[in-house]
Amino acid sequence: MTITATIEEAGFSPASRISTIGVSQILKIGARAQALKREGRLVIILGAGEPDFDTPDHIKDAASKAIYAGATKYTALDGSPELKKAIQGKFERENGVPYALDEITVATGAKQILFNAMMATLNPGDEVIIPTPYWTSYSDIVEIAEGKPVLIACDAEAGFRLKAEQLEAAITPKTRWVMLNSPSNPSGAAYSEADYRPLLDVLLRHPHVWLLVDDMYEHIVYDDFKFVTPAAIEPKLKNRTLTVNGVSKAYAMTGWRIGYAGGPRDLIKAMAVVQSQATSCPCSVSQAASVEALNGPQEFLKERTASFQRRRDLVVSALNAIEGLDCRTPEGAFYTYSGCAGVLGKTAPSGRKIDTDSDFCAYLLDEADVAVVPGSAFGLSPYFRISYATSEEELKVALERIATACAQLA
Ligand SMILES: Cc1ncc(COP(=O)(O)O)c(C=O)c1O
Repeated sequence: MTITATIEEAGFSPASRISTIGVSQILKIGARAQALKREGRLVIILGAGEPDFDTPDHIKDAASKAIYAGATKYTALDGSPELKKAIQGKFERENGVPYALDEITVATGAKQILFNAMMATLNPGDEVIIPTPYWTSYSDIVEIAEGKPVLIACDAEAGFRLKAEQLEAAITPKTRWVMLNSPSNPSGAAYSEADYRPLLDVLLRHPHVWLLVDDMYEHIVYDDFKFVTPAAIEPKLKNRTLTVNGVSKAYAMTGWRIGYAGGPRDLIKAMAVVQSQATSCPCSVSQAASVEALNGPQEFLKERTASFQRRRDLVVSALNAIEGLDCRTPEGAFYTYSGCAGVLGKTAPSGRKIDTDSDFCAYLLDEADVAVVPGSAFGLSPYFRISYATSEEELKVALERIATACAQLA
């Protein structure tokens, strides 16, 4: 007689800590788009959160050399000394922020940096202020760490940026962190020094609140926008600011999984405790590649940004030419976050009612073969996100399809 229970008999139920966290809408839309493609439909997917460029050859070469030189073992827990030095140099050179080596941490992507930071600092019920629209992982990571996301709507009229009065009003004795992201995924909006200043003044008055800034898209900014990071603007906040960055977007290295941060020593130490029981260290080969990314040639970044800017201009002007849509020009990243209030309440020729941004995006996917992500996935409606990290040819076809689909609504 066997005593092995089937899954049904064992009655699997997930932990309560993940009970509020659904499967990402972005993944669901991606899966549906792929399924339609398999049926032979020529779906264009504008959902990718990664550059369409490849990792530059000099970075790949550094990785293969490192493999043969023996970089195949565990490294120091939160980053090899070589990579920490390269990151220290980057923070000084590009941001004007000095960090000691023990104020720097490296993880398996910036996502793990955020995860380590929240797991290391939040007690149940601690509040984290997150402006919307936000990168979807922010609130989920806070919830996994048993914190409470406090979402604040920042619409297109506000430039998708948090205002000082909103921040002041949201702070309570339970506030632990404020999370800011510039340039932003999904809005592409960025904070200039003048935009940051009033927010930092609020934080100076509330010493119990810490600031997490996600500078992941720092190198992808357009026109004459001048990127700045808060620890450089207000050194008095540096001892409670975590400056998060990574190689994923700037160097087209999303698959290498390296993110990093600079912050106060005690926080960095606590984050290492989480990492030590999760991954032991980031991938040795990817760390070697990241040293080359940060210390090697940087000229190609300008060319790539210029290519993204051409595509941004193409997408923004095409969207604004469509009745019912309204797209703010983003300062950076490779996303547009277009308003779609003007198409709500309408009906498609098929009889499908378009009442929400999710309905609109489902209509575009099912009836126009274009996959985009509704604002509801990012906490602010009615909008939809386009990732323009795809070829100009595909973008043009996709935008024509969107225009035709909108014109058919009545
Ligand atoms: C705003 C933002 N921060 C962080 C990340 C995570 O980057 P990674 O984990 O690849 O370093 C992403 C990825 O999409 C992002 O959009």
